[in-house]
Amino acid sequence: MIRIVDLLNQQPVGETIEVCGWLRTRRDSGALSFLEINDGSCLAGLQVVAEESLANYATEVSRLTTGCSLRIQGVLVASPAKGQDVEVQATTITVIGWADPETYPLQKKRHSFEYLRSISHLRSRTNALGAVARVRSTLSFAIHRFFHEQGFLQVHTPVITTSDCEGAGEMFTVTSLEPAQMQGSAPFSGDFFGRRAGLTVSGQLQAEIFALSHSRVYTFGPTFRAENSNTSRHLAEFWMLEPEMAFCDLNGNMEMAEVMIKYLVKAVLAECAEDLELFDRFIARGVHKKLTRLSDRPFVRLTYTEAIAELERSSRRFDFPVQWGLDLQAEHERYLCEEVAQAPVIVTNYPKKIKPFYMRLDDDGHTVAAMDILVAGIGELVGGSQREERYDLLAQRMTEAGLDLDQYSWYLDLRRYGSVPHAGYGLGFERLVQFVTGMSNIRDVIPFPRTPGSAPC
Ligand code: 4AD
Ligand code: MG
Repeated sequence: MIRIVDLLNQQPVGETIEVCGWLRTRRDSGALSFLEINDGSCLAGLQVVAEESLANYATEVSRLTTGCSLRIQGVLVASPAKGQDVEVQATTITVIGWADPETYPLQKKRHSFEYLRSISHLRSRTNALGAVARVRSTLSFAIHRFFHEQGFLQVHTPVITTSDCEGAGEMFTVTSLEPAQMQGSAPFSGDFFGRRAGLTVSGQLQAEIFALSHSRVYTFGPTFRAENSNTSRHLAEFWMLEPEMAFCDLNGNMEMAEVMIKYLVKAVLAECAEDLELFDRFIARGVHKKLTRLSDRPFVRLTYTEAIAELERSSRRFDFPVQWGLDLQAEHERYLCEEVAQAPVIVTNYPKKIKPFYMRLDDDGHTVAAMDILVAGIGELVGGSQREERYDLLAQRMTEAGLDLDQYSWYLDLRRYGSVPHAGYGLGFERLVQFVTGMSNIRDVIPFPRTPGSAPC
């Protein structure tokens, strides 16, 4: 058996081949049927010519409908028709599975993404969602390749944790207690882990442990946030890539993130050309040009204070207030990269009050060594910082944040023994997939979206 993508690339005309896949369309023409088969290995389908002389032509082939699964044996020939170089002259067609046309939810027409979300078990068979899945897989592999080439160690950080990295109170609780047992002043003391545990919101704190033993590490896995945000950019379960580098400051951190994003974009341009063309034509016009431009221009760097000044100068009316000390909203972030810089923007040195406890305090005492990378259409793609490596200052910020220092003594130990300047960042993987495909809703770039009120399968 050969994958359709390999068949179309190699074009072994004259050879006998076998392919398997699902029927997209059947068109009858006199004593012939033309079948278009797709096996998910590429966007293009393979044209199969089925002649009336096939043993099961009348009984089966002529009854085939969209969605049936087939095994085809035949000879690859040059195609006389427009639209494809080669086609298969079938010698046998075996129906592996039928798909009742009365009930099969995917017909040969464009379905809305909203409708496709209601059939998440079938939507990967469509052109757009099939292309998203290939781009997602390419990006995931390119991430591992990039960090491998750069000499990073991959660390598997835990999914269940007792540390709330972002301190935003968005951790899902993991418990083996029945609701009736969750009472009293210390409800979790009798729980499975003896204290409150949850699903990780970020692997950063554990990645820091390994950065302080292996220098350059990364973790890439699912993270969870019980955030009641029903937006096109938020999920309750999303994948995050988090590199962490010892002997590295904010500048080194920004440099690494920029080089990495460009590497990933180039990988998609090189390896997913056919899928990108689909996104460019049908989903987001200009997305291809946006990616090519990004890959050969420097990102624009602005401090938070400069960004606020830029927003205040603007004649644009924003829904959310612009004021030093308030966080930037997606509309502000998008304005900065779409209108002001026309390139990705790295905003640095945010007020300490709006950032988590672990970020390194700047000399002014008011801002921290944070960096967010903002991109067109999305807003925040990356959030990172240089970490506070000075014991006393970290302990003070943790106390201010209301953390129990005993519980985080292991984190403080990293500053007590052989502390070094270190930095890292988190990239929202689905936001990256959205950015490169131009898909407008984050629920359509993850196979099984989890959002408030929705986790169907
Ligand atoms: O900015 P965040 O919250 O940073 C951290 O969690 C750090 N601990 C990362 C680090 O320094 N190692 O999240 C990082 C990124 C965001 O920039 C965004 O792209 C994505 O994760 N993200 C989400 N993506 C989808 N749905 C959500 N609810 C997200 N929350 C954050
Ligand atoms: Mg952030």
